[in-house]
Amino acid sequence: MSGWTRSSATGSGSTTRDIVRPEDFPAAAERLARWVARYRAELRDRPVAPATKPGEVRAGMPAHAPEHPESIEAIEADLDRLVVPHLLHWQHPRFFGYFPALSDLSSVLGDLVSGGLGVQGMLWSASPACTEIETHLMDWCVDLLDLPDAFRSTGAGGGVIQDTASSAALCALVAARERVTQGRSNASGLRSPACPPLACYASTQAHSSIEKAVRIAGLGSLSMRRIPTDETMAMQAHALARAMRRDQEDGIRPCFVVATVGTTSSLAMDDLLSTAKLCKQFGAWLHVDAALAGCAAICPEHRGIHAGLEGADSYCTNPHKWLGVNFDCDLFYVRDRAALVGALGIDPEFLKNAATASGEVIDYRDWQVPLGRRFRALKLWFLLRLTGAEALRERVRRSCAMSAAWAERARQHPDLEVLEPQRLGLVCLRHRGGDEETEGLLRRVNASGIAFLTHTRIPWAQTGSPDPRFTLRVAIGNPETTAEDLDRLWELLVAAA
Ligand SMILES: Cc1ncc(COP(=O)(O)O)c(C=O)c1O
Repeated sequence: MSGWTRSSATGSGSTTRDIVRPEDFPAAAERLARWVARYRAELRDRPVAPATKPGEVRAGMPAHAPEHPESIEAIEADLDRLVVPHLLHWQHPRFFGYFPALSDLSSVLGDLVSGGLGVQGMLWSASPACTEIETHLMDWCVDLLDLPDAFRSTGAGGGVIQDTASSAALCALVAARERVTQGRSNASGLRSPACPPLACYASTQAHSSIEKAVRIAGLGSLSMRRIPTDETMAMQAHALARAMRRDQEDGIRPCFVVATVGTTSSLAMDDLLSTAKLCKQFGAWLHVDAALAGCAAICPEHRGIHAGLEGADSYCTNPHKWLGVNFDCDLFYVRDRAALVGALGIDPEFLKNAATASGEVIDYRDWQVPLGRRFRALKLWFLLRLTGAEALRERVRRSCAMSAAWAERARQHPDLEVLEPQRLGLVCLRHRGGDEETEGLLRRVNASGIAFLTHTRIPWAQTGSPDPRFTLRVAIGNPETTAEDLDRLWELLVAAA
């Protein structure tokens, strides 16, 4: 291994300069690249989840920050001692918890370049390539996912990379708030007589980030309407219509509706067509949250999940979940970028410049909450170029096929029940004996260290009872997961059942 030592860095002059000089960087980076490669290669043999006690990691750290340079060897040793043993290994092939958060090394290379360039793309003029590559990639992704043309930057809409789906929902809501109140909440405050009370709607199965956005945007939790779901856990259109009508009659303005394509608990799919129709009728903004499931639209055979998306005002999906772009990368689209920029735009003197004044450029500071932004498009660009769309389609197809096969196996077991319909890369199941038995399964699987699962609590229409049941979620998405990995999970469950 080519070595990088502190002495090679400290020999180069002033201590006020970055201690890793450009001439030192390749050796240091190579050393750490090897470390990451070894971590990934050895992952399969590690326990998936740590047995860390609260405070254990901090207890292994010095009380104070170092006054003098340490060696990279010392840092690497701490990665082995303090970090790796105390991680839940999200890239482990037998990590089946939450949703995948895949981190392909091809995208990690893009992030390395982003850090190395160290540009800050708040304005087009602050680094034109940072903005234009992002805009171009967002248009590429309209094609890749076959999204409505209205989201293309060449028309009135456009896309931006947000950190997360949570931020996308917040930005969409603020744009909705300003559109519905015609800017009056911005001008005179949400609680002024000029601004009517506003209401937001999402199903009981929508992600918690929606209610959080409602709180942050100043509407408050009481303006959030949780709409009941049907037997497939999709939002009931007639219940949504009733809630909007009731609000309207009470002088409350229906403002923002979130339809979910692939809920977190069970990948339930709200009906976009009927929701869009209602939004049009009541003048509300429709945001579609397709955080995980939207990635499946890279495959033509899954594009039915987006039926009705033409009626949406905004949409988001997370390539950082299923497509391998390392966290964070959320694709956020709007059909009317003027509404978003009108809500989030700022123009202080110190940011004024000729390009902005010309009106010919996009300044992404006006499309997001923070001012500053890093060059996130690079990791998506690297992933798409080094991998190619066809391999990403294969990845989605493979995890759907593995999930379907695994669900079929579980259906054959007398003590296990699979939530129907099983969708995409997620299998939800429970022990027929009840919640306690199902919880016991989760505990035993996770205690084994061999695999990792998480749970939810949802009603199971097929049990004939509306009561939420403790439910195991098996999320299969990692391309490193093999049939043998799934056999091991199966053996664990059967032994525990
Ligand atoms: C449907 C849905 N929406 C939103 C989120 C939140 O995603 P993020 O972490 O990107 O905010 C998730 C996370 O799993 C999700 O499943």
